[in-house]
Amino acid sequence: MNTKVNIAGVEWNNPVTTASGSFGSGMEYSEFVDLGKLGAVTTKGVSNIPWTGNPTPRIAETYGGMLNAIGLQNPGVEVFIERDIPFLKKYDTNIIVNVCGKTSEDYIEVVERLSETDVDMLEINISCPNVKEGE
Ligand SMILES: Cc1cc2nc3c(=O)[nH]c(=O)nc-3n(C[C@H](O)[C@H](O)[C@H](O)COP(=O)(O)O)c2cc1C
Repeated sequence: MNTKVNIAGVEWNNPVTTASGSFGSGMEYSEFVDLGKLGAVTTKGVSNIPWTGNPTPRIAETYGGMLNAIGLQNPGVEVFIERDIPFLKKYDTNIIVNVCGKTSEDYIEVVERLSETDVDMLEINISCPNVKEGE
């Protein structure tokens, strides 16, 4: 069955991707899921410099669920480019990078840096409510 879709000019093998932040950068799940079966891997937020995230505790159990405020912990775009892109490129899937920042300049820096790489699409996180400085 042909499951291909075209999203914003990018061809996907199928319309399935991951919710940003819930799947690490892909590597963390590669032991459990064949990343090549996904139409795209959407990464967790990537910022211009490493972010340590919120102080712990970051997760609280609630009745029937949980609340979390991780604070977009990530190693920054340079580590992402050196470590994660080459890893994801081994799979027949698209790479969507979720971009986060505290100022417009931060976002621009990450987007410009990623435009020099082989990633397929960008997703801009402009609404993360647990980053105080977010614009
Ligand atoms: C642990 C966790 C981390 C997340 N990290 C990010 C993130 O890095 N960037 C982002 O844009 N959204 C992030 N999200 C939001 C999810 O991608 C998604 O939008 C959210 O879970 C709501 O999805 P739904 O509306 O389909 O239920 C995160 C969500 C969770 C639960």
